[in-house]
Amino acid sequence: MKILAFETSCDETSVAIVEDGKKVLSNIISTQIDIHKEYGGVVPEIASRHHIENILPVFMEALEKSKCSLNDIDYIAVTNTPGLIGSLLVGLMFAKSISYANKIPLLPVNHIEGHIFSNFIENDIQLPAISLVVSGGHTNLYYLTEKDSSINIELLGETLDDAIGESYDKVARVLGLPYPGGPEIDKLSLNGEDTLKIKKPNVEGYDFSFSGIKTFVTNYVNNQKMKNNNISKENVAKSFQETVIEVLYDKVSKVIEDKKVKTVLVAGGVSANKRLREKFESLKNKVENIYFPKFEYCTDNAAMIAAAAYYNLKKEKNLKNMYEIDAKSTKEI
Ligand code: KG4
Ligand code: ZN
Repeated sequence: MKILAFETSCDETSVAIVEDGKKVLSNIISTQIDIHKEYGGVVPEIASRHHIENILPVFMEALEKSKCSLNDIDYIAVTNTPGLIGSLLVGLMFAKSISYANKIPLLPVNHIEGHIFSNFIENDIQLPAISLVVSGGHTNLYYLTEKDSSINIELLGETLDDAIGESYDKVARVLGLPYPGGPEIDKLSLNGEDTLKIKKPNVEGYDFSFSGIKTFVTNYVNNQKMKNNNISKENVAKSFQETVIEVLYDKVSKVIEDKKVKTVLVAGGVSANKRLREKFESLKNKVENIYFPKFEYCTDNAAMIAAAAYYNLKKEKNLKNMYEIDAKSTKEI
């Protein structure tokens, strides 16, 4: 089964064609990072305008690379929520038009589910599993089980305030580093030491909190600046990164013990982080398998949307044709 998928929820225009949820025939990603860098973050209006310019060439390139024609496509999948409304609408309306004109059924996909299924591309995942989604907008922990030959996804915990990627970006900003801040902090901290020893928040259950850590770091940097003291950006980056990664590590260790899972899946933009990948290696004495997506499937991409649609097809409730779904079902983060 071949699925043509569209992803335009934020600042990446992406189109992919994936066979049987696993074989990626093409996954074209046009990122707007360089455009938004100038403003220190994503400007929604500018993002929508660039999606409008990019969607057709990206679609044509994806078709060409896959060596498929629209006659080979069984379903069209498109991210319909969550995301920036103007950005979502470009992908949604484009996908609807292709679907209507070519009589190919259309399937809605939740962006976060896309991140969860990014680990199912090229891998056979053993359930039960937990999935940690760490991105610019979300920090969610899910429990995945097999139910009636499909996959059931239960939300166990989420951030009570800032998402982890958002905190990375804000700390980077106060340090004068470019957007997106995550990769910059990841790089800088390689040469730093954990000198700040930031206190970890005490949050019950499986929920997370990052705003206290972020505020501690931004206050520290601003205070040092006011006193005209030199700060080591490397040490601040390392101290911040060690603390937030330990928060993730502690929660995942707790849920492994409570749920007795075999598999841990980590996904979303922050899953590209080198230190996070290294630290989670040590979970290998607690679970059989730990998966991180390939780098091109960590940040936003359409291959993961096709993968999620493939697994969703097994759930009857998602089989309804998406002609019914309109802008009312999209919502802004
Ligand atoms: O999943 P994503 O592309 O978009 C959302 O759905 O939000 O994630 C983007 C986030 C940004 O906050 C970015 O700073 C972060 O992922 N990120 C990283 C790294 N690469 C991207 N954070 C930490 N370390 C990285 N290497
Ligand atoms: Zn994302």
